Amino acid sequence: MVIYLPGAVEEEEQVEALDELSPRQIVAHLDKHVVGQKAAKRAVAIALRNRIRRQKLPEDMAEEVVPKNIIMIGSTGVGKTEIARRLSRLANSPFLKVEASKFTEVGYVGRDVESMIRDLVEIAIDLVREEKLEDVADKAEQNAEERVLDLLLPPVPQSARNSASAEEKARAQEAFAKTREKLREQLRGGKLDERMVEVETRERSMPAFEIISSSGIEEMDINVKDILPGIFGQKTKKRKMPVADAMDHLIQEEEQKLIDMDQVTRLAVDRVEQNGIIFLDEIDKIAGREGGHGPDVSREGVQRDILPIVEGTTVNTRYGIVRTDHILFVAAGAFHVSKPSDLIPELQGRFPIRVELETLTVEDFVRILTEPKSALIKQYVGLMETEGIKLRFTEEATRSIARFAALVNERTENIGARRLQTIMEKLLDEISFEGPDLKPKDVTIDEEYVQKMLASIVADEDLTRYIL
Ligand SMILES: Nc1ncnc2c1ncn2[C@@H]1O[C@H](COP(=O)(O)OP(=O)(O)OP(=O)(O)O)[C@@H](O)[C@H]1O
Ligand SMILES: [Mg+2]
Repeated sequence: MVIYLPGAVEEEEQVEALDELSPRQIVAHLDKHVVGQKAAKRAVAIALRNRIRRQKLPEDMAEEVVPKNIIMIGSTGVGKTEIARRLSRLANSPFLKVEASKFTEVGYVGRDVESMIRDLVEIAIDLVREEKLEDVADKAEQNAEERVLDLLLPPVPQSARNSASAEEKARAQEAFAKTREKLREQLRGGKLDERMVEVETRERSMPAFEIISSSGIEEMDINVKDILPGIFGQKTKKRKMPVADAMDHLIQEEEQKLIDMDQVTRLAVDRVEQNGIIFLDEIDKIAGREGGHGPDVSREGVQRDILPIVEGTTVNTRYGIVRTDHILFVAAGAFHVSKPSDLIPELQGRFPIRVELETLTVEDFVRILTEPKSALIKQYVGLMETEGIKLRFTEEATRSIARFAALVNERTENIGARRLQTIMEKLLDEISFEGPDLKPKDVTIDEEYVQKMLASIVADEDLTRYIL
């Protein structure tokens, strides 16, 4: 009997810099989250490693090495997006996932393909800013503390000091310093958190309208956002707030002061150009060459628009010009209706590496339920534990759940591992509902329970369709 210990849902671990990871290590990391799919994991690991290798080449040669873009082919729910998602957490690289089907041809209403580069830069800015924030965090906190102390105990005004004798001045100074240190101690101990202080805050009154992101206006957005704060913002206003809030507020303000945004911007753009990864999901939805009717008209157009970006071009962003030559593209699609060969040949050529993801088996389902760091069963155990319920699954029960999932996939639509979610939800329906009222608090899900909860639904074709 397998017993899943409570609290099994682990925190996402912080991995060492991607640069130091060998392909084998990258795969090992992905293995913690994604079951099977060796070929796909290998392909992304090699592609990532190759760009690290490239960066070690002499500059003129490095320029010549183009990224080996990848197409992942596999039906729905087998882990395509999951691999990319996990990769992004691992990579210290700016990472963007977009649905190819979201784009429309340049000149039409909708998002133009260049917007993905602009989005990627925004992500990189956040990433770099976040890193810089860590660097200045201590300093910002110190500064904020001094400012809060200034508020709590305003410095003695100059005029008052002038009238006193030298001796008196020194004594006053000393007393002042002493009180300040005492306050500092109390402040750090959280004893002053509730006390009210008046803080000068910079009001960033953002304009009260959203910018519509159709391609033309998006260009404009570049200027509008930069200009508006100058017109509306930077008004200061005194606000009363508890010391605890004031501290938070001032820390933020100090952080902003300490961070060199020009440097952040430069680093971010560089990071995008050298390490950026774009995951183009649903690429199969834009495949198809025949023009003529309906949405097909723009499909080929979108592919043609994507071409230069994948090939290497420059894109104007509000942070400057970005070269796309070395951005890694990972495309993914189910390719049920269309095939990779339905993409225009030029685009196919830009994605030299093809990997197929395998269909998941009952055995895979068992592992998906139990092994990944945030496997479904671990999630449910964790969720129920918050209500004091100890949930356990026997090995047979787990296997039975996996078999039901496979069966339903076979009978209705094959939605891969996503089926496990619907099955688990149904299986634990009663327990989830009872929650805090459940007695006894120890619940073991065995095969019998699984059968009881699921067999009847699976037996009835209609019920299966609606419920699972
Ligand atoms: N091989 C796997 N290992 C672990 N979990 C998986 C695996 N495949 C799928 N899953 C789980 O199933 C869910 C759906 O997977 P994912 O989003 O990767 O599907 P997909 O292949 O991108 O499908 P689609 O073509 O519909 O986008 C995720 O929650 C993921 O955790
Ligand atoms: Mg997906």
